[in-house]
Amino acid sequence: MTATPHLPPTPIAKDTFLIHDNEPRADEPVTVTLNSMVIRAAEAVVVDTGVAASEEQYLADVFSLVDPEDIRWVFISHDDIDHTGSLNALMAAAPNATAVINWFIGKRMGDTLDIPIHRQRWLGDGESLDVGDRVLQAVRPPVYDSPTTRGLYDPSTGVYWSSDSFATPVLEPVPTVDELPLEMWLGGINTFDRYVSPWLELVDERRFQATVDRIERLAPTAMVGCHTPVIAGDRVAQAIAATRLSPNAAIQPQPDQSVLDQIQRALGDLAA
Ligand SMILES: [Fe+2]
Ligand SMILES: [Fe+2]
Repeated sequence: MTATPHLPPTPIAKDTFLIHDNEPRADEPVTVTLNSMVIRAAEAVVVDTGVAASEEQYLADVFSLVDPEDIRWVFISHDDIDHTGSLNALMAAAPNATAVINWFIGKRMGDTLDIPIHRQRWLGDGESLDVGDRVLQAVRPPVYDSPTTRGLYDPSTGVYWSSDSFATPVLEPVPTVDELPLEMWLGGINTFDRYVSPWLELVDERRFQATVDRIERLAPTAMVGCHTPVIAGDRVAQAIAATRLSPNAAIQPQPDQSVLDQIQRALGDLAA
């Protein structure tokens, strides 16, 4: 495994920042980002909490933007380990924070969720969260891999947190998708969508497109998620258009046993 240089937080909009992380990589040509977000609203909001392995860097990045005592809300988009990795640690370090989850996140996390019930708020798709100077909206993205998923839209900046949607593998972590080769980016959205949501092959086309319409109607100025650099300006429409194609796109198969055989042989050769 080799470490990739760590990117400092990227400003997305006024008082809104993307926190970067990515998978450690072996020899793969691509990596997957593991990002999160901070909104310095009147009541500061942290959105998703990365993977546990990056806890130290994650907390340092968050606290470079907002003091622990000033964090009022920690929004969790869904219960996967790349979104909840530092949740317990952040809640322990931020005494005034409430975890914005939902009933099913609590159920699915079980004992791994170490947050007392009086520090929880349950927010469902379509519901709102008043953070003092703005009212954030929970909006489920079109593509997701957990039944608990909600995205988060900030009407004051137009920034939409898309959780696992509008995601793509990247060659290297970069601040914005402008730095990705266009075809790789758009094809990457299709591949990512189908890997995390294989049920896309089963969806009714019209009903799926309606879920994309819902995001388009928000008219986001920028979209960001755990697994994508910042998507802003004209790129928003491109990402939405690519997502519309995902149910029927031709994609590369996932690595299978023959790939694992190659890796094991290579490692065996190294060890010999
Ligand atoms: Fe996920
Ligand atoms: Fe994820």
